[in-house]
Amino acid sequence: MASTDAPTETKLWGGRFTGATDPLMELYNASLPYDKKMYAADLEGTRVYTSALEKLGLLTKEELAEIHRGLELIHAEWANGTFVEKPGDEDIHTANERRLGELIGKGIAGKVHTGRSRNDQVATDMRLYVRDELTKTQTQLRALIQVIVNRARSEIEILMPGYTHLQRAQPIRWAHWLSLHATFLANDLKRLEQVIERVNVSPLGSGALAGHPYGIDREYIANELKFDGIIGNSLAAVSDRDFVVETMFWGSLVLNHLAKLSEDLIIYSTAEFGFIKLADAYSTGSSLMPQKKNPDSLELLRGKSGRAFGHLAGFMMSLKATPSTYNKDLQEDKEPLFDNLVTVSHSIQIATGVLSTLKVIPEKMQAALTMDMLATDLADYLVRKGVPFRETHHISGEAVHLAESTNVSGIDQLTLEQYKSIDSRFEEDVFKVFDFEASVERRTAIGGTAKSAVLAQLENLEKIIS
Ligand code: ARG
Repeated sequence: MASTDAPTETKLWGGRFTGATDPLMELYNASLPYDKKMYAADLEGTRVYTSALEKLGLLTKEELAEIHRGLELIHAEWANGTFVEKPGDEDIHTANERRLGELIGKGIAGKVHTGRSRNDQVATDMRLYVRDELTKTQTQLRALIQVIVNRARSEIEILMPGYTHLQRAQPIRWAHWLSLHATFLANDLKRLEQVIERVNVSPLGSGALAGHPYGIDREYIANELKFDGIIGNSLAAVSDRDFVVETMFWGSLVLNHLAKLSEDLIIYSTAEFGFIKLADAYSTGSSLMPQKKNPDSLELLRGKSGRAFGHLAGFMMSLKATPSTYNKDLQEDKEPLFDNLVTVSHSIQIATGVLSTLKVIPEKMQAALTMDMLATDLADYLVRKGVPFRETHHISGEAVHLAESTNVSGIDQLTLEQYKSIDSRFEEDVFKVFDFEASVERRTAIGGTAKSAVLAQLENLEKIIS
């Protein structure tokens, strides 16, 4: 491919080069198209860094004021969409520095990068950006959990089948199912707090890799940028992308949880189940079949978990064989990370919308409860009379078999004589077993289906989000 003109003065690193850059290489190398979303973090990092330079006497007060004035103008340009990108603006760092030179003169702007490298600069920008995005997501996740808890409280009376292997297993409360998903998400919330802690440490003042030659006050910089700590090794500071991996893992796990929740709801919304109805706001129709109402919101929530994890896996592969400190491979962190952040945030908001607007059909849930789901309760009945569980499990199985083989509609329809023929320890009170509400209310131990136990779960969840 043809080369462009001789190396330009517009390149920050132009001095050492004599050949021109292949135009495709320019494109291949450039990250501005996607890293410009960090413009505010980049400008803020420079604002604080230059203040630290001034404290060292490397900038005068007047120069610093000029720089800060220029940075504000650049911020306004980005914010109102008037920033003009120029050829040679390789990334957000070079673009901002180039523009600063145009606005306040290269003489002063040329001092900004003293002791700093794009290596500690980009690591700083990324951490600031991720911290702020994750903090917004944290609020959204709290709101989602709150919606689930509210629903669970107001719909605590509703019973439904609980499933294992997607086969009817035992009756549970709908609120218990809701609380299951809130429990996973509450763990995600706690996990997120820890991720943010590790994201929020300062690399700035580490230079390209070897540290700062003028003894810059890294603590001052970290405090001003509201970091909670400092990365204590300059080599690590410029190359550590574990925070990117962790952020994407966190997002992948959240989407995994939302995918499971969605999968249940998709099943529950089918005509065959009919447990719930999705609001129109989160459904779409078919272009061919007029009667269709499809749960696209839930299918996308389920599908996007693959995308989020794919980004994580891809970046892990980029990262795994890089030599120590900065290598350009690290630039590959941005597109997957930014996509992951947006996808996770949107998904949480969509899930909140879906869960706050869907309609439950309690009659359908109730109708799906069948007496065989109380076979375990029947076994427990004899356990309460002193029979070992292994034996009662077998006896209860015989009752299920007898009902099936005599074409009786359920184990509650067998007569006392039939029960006594299976085991003489059955008495008249056996029929009290066949009550779904009573079954659910028997499970009072922590984490169970009894109303008191579910309310306790909800209280705990509320503590976690408060
Ligand atoms: N755009 C680069 C990145 O995202 C900035 C750091 C460039 N550093 C370098 N030594 N070329 O990683």
